[in-house]
Amino acid sequence: MPANFTNCFLMLPEIKLTDVSVPHEGLILLAKDHESAKSFFQGMPEELVIANKIAGRTGIIPLDLPERTIILYLESISSINQPVRNEALRKAGAEAAEAIEKRKLKTVFITGAPETDALLFLEGMLLSSYRFLKHKNKPEIASLSTILLNKDICHESALTELLNLVQGVNIARDLVNEPVSYLTAEKLAEVFQKLGEEAGFNVEVLNKTKIESLKMGGLIAVNLGSPNPPTFSILEYKPEKPVNTNPYVLVGKGVVYDTGGLSLKPTPNSMDKMKSDMAGSAAVAGAIYAIARNKLPLHVIGLIPATENRPDGNAMAPGDVITMFDGTTVEVLNTDAEGRLILADALSFAKKYNPALTIDLATLTGAAARAIGKEGIVYMGNASENIKKAFTASGNEVYERLVEFPLWEEYKKQLESDIADLKNIGSGEAGAITAGKFLEHFVSYPWLHLDIAGSAFLDSRDSYRGKNATGTGVRLLYNFFKKMSN
Ligand code: BES
Ligand code: ZN
Ligand code: ZN
Repeated sequence: MPANFTNCFLMLPEIKLTDVSVPHEGLILLAKDHESAKSFFQGMPEELVIANKIAGRTGIIPLDLPERTIILYLESISSINQPVRNEALRKAGAEAAEAIEKRKLKTVFITGAPETDALLFLEGMLLSSYRFLKHKNKPEIASLSTILLNKDICHESALTELLNLVQGVNIARDLVNEPVSYLTAEKLAEVFQKLGEEAGFNVEVLNKTKIESLKMGGLIAVNLGSPNPPTFSILEYKPEKPVNTNPYVLVGKGVVYDTGGLSLKPTPNSMDKMKSDMAGSAAVAGAIYAIARNKLPLHVIGLIPATENRPDGNAMAPGDVITMFDGTTVEVLNTDAEGRLILADALSFAKKYNPALTIDLATLTGAAARAIGKEGIVYMGNASENIKKAFTASGNEVYERLVEFPLWEEYKKQLESDIADLKNIGSGEAGAITAGKFLEHFVSYPWLHLDIAGSAFLDSRDSYRGKNATGTGVRLLYNFFKKMSN
């Protein structure tokens, strides 16, 4: 059992592969259709009542019977395509978890489906059970303590892989939910180090002095108004025989709090969620955690520039010109467009690894969130069509769907500065794209940029993604890199 660095490790119920003879208060049957549900209960005391209750119904059907609670999942034939069908299974798992909590069941047994279906259902159950209770004096403890999974349908290895991935998602969620006073850039780096020790990846943390000596001008400038120093964390997972000779690099925006700086965000409410502005970095850490725990044969490096963005006497002022890590000069016309400044330094830094592919994740623009809302991720980049195809397929498979925005040359005009090489904002139109165009300037290798501003943090509960931090990006990256490791 992993140590409790973040809070989520306490959340997962115990999961065992057993047969149906182990006592349980609830039975979950995943059934393809009514006939298979009925035939499962043939000869059992519940046979008749079940046949009556399920007629004409699909989806999750909880039945409170005298002996035990039975939760049926009857698949709807309308879910035709594979990703949609898989997502229905995850959502059914979330609905079942709710029904279980409502009934305060402690132990349930899951059976009836092939391994992949059972694991998708379990994924939904586990992800939906996540709660961030660290700061509650009287946390509500989940009733479900044990999930029994029919050992005839599931392999230990596949189950372990899923559990490591869910932990990765929950680590990301814990980090994103944690308020800034508990998670400064230095604390964030400390958590990375602990995660590295536990999962088996190396973490090097560059401190303020080092960052200054390297002349990471973007990260230094954003940090000027902050009482706490910046960090630049380098996470490296390098197994013995990786299938890739050139590493994959993941870059995550680690703004642990974004007030906007001197270009202060307007109140009320616009800052309320800004502890989540490090969700990109959380996704990178969560994904590398899952990759390392599951020992994918891939060389992966994570780069996390981290700082607060705050106003102060010393803060950078709109109109300042800064010099970036690669020497590019930038006229900062809005200090709230800070993410691209710290990411740009990390993207230039990534060049030294000669990466096969670099993917950055960032809660970068309100424009991306406005464009597609919480239902997906805006992405863009210069990577090959083959990579994009594989990546968007992963997006569909894990249901963190990707929408490509163009990086047409014309948008670059918006970033022309009168006095420096670039300015850090465009004219206002196509804000997600001009942010991407800014980053593109610092990139010299195959690259994808993911703007997760819409899906990283939710105002209201959405099935297994829950409320608040979703951990978006972790399952997407894991799915994609698993493919790349085959
Ligand atoms: N962290 C914000 C983007 C954001 C907004 C994330 C809402 C999640 C929810 C980012 O640093 C920012 O402030 N971007 C500005 C850029 C603008 C000044 C060009 C924005 O989107 O308004
Ligand atoms: Zn900002
Ligand atoms: Zn920001």
